[in-house]
Amino acid sequence: MITLQKATIEDLGILLRIEKNVSNLKTYSAMVTEEEWREELSKSTVYLIEKDGVAIGDISYEIKGDSHAYLSGFAIIPEFQGQGIGQEVLTKILEELKNMRRIDLAVHPHNVHAVMLYLSFGFIIESRKDNYFGDGEPRIILAKTK
Ligand SMILES: CC(C)(COP(=O)(O)OP(=O)(O)OC[C@H]1O[C@@H](n2cnc3c(N)ncnc32)[C@H](O)[C@@H]1OP(=O)(O)O)[C@@H](O)C(=O)NCCC(=O)NCCS
Repeated sequence: MITLQKATIEDLGILLRIEKNVSNLKTYSAMVTEEEWREELSKSTVYLIEKDGVAIGDISYEIKGDSHAYLSGFAIIPEFQGQGIGQEVLTKILEELKNMRRIDLAVHPHNVHAVMLYLSFGFIIESRKDNYFGDGEPRIILAKTK
């Protein structure tokens, strides 16, 4: 069973371990420092994704303004990818954010699995930005609006 557990500063170690599992990807800007996670935990809602009580991923969003949420992070460790867990997690998060008029995020244009996942949930591609995180890599902005 997949559950979402709200993460706190006490989960820093496990959050770092999860993100280090996906830090080799050019298509994902993993959060691999304590400093980044301290900031993320202070401004965003962060969940640990648990399967049968074991943390296998994380997902975060930041409320940016009136009725606008930004999905700031989403990672599942490789051995659990491609099994529909991402879909299940996104369903739960979108239910939690169902009153938002706008939900958006930035994703690498070559991150095909992630892009396809978001498109299947009704996100649309809005724009493309070069060097989005300062690492020389582009991102596309996807948004789900109503
Ligand atoms: C993006 C991510 C969170 C999606 O989670 P997931 O559990 O792998 O996603 P799902 O299993 O629900 O699959 C979503 C879609 O991608 C496809 N997919 C995902 N991984 C796949 C793989 N390894 N091989 C083939 N297809 C795959 C699925 O088939 C599904 O498409 P479908 O509905 O047409 O079948 C996960 O792959 C991940 O952590 N990637 C690395 C970090 C990252 O890129 N995060 C996104 C930041 S915006």
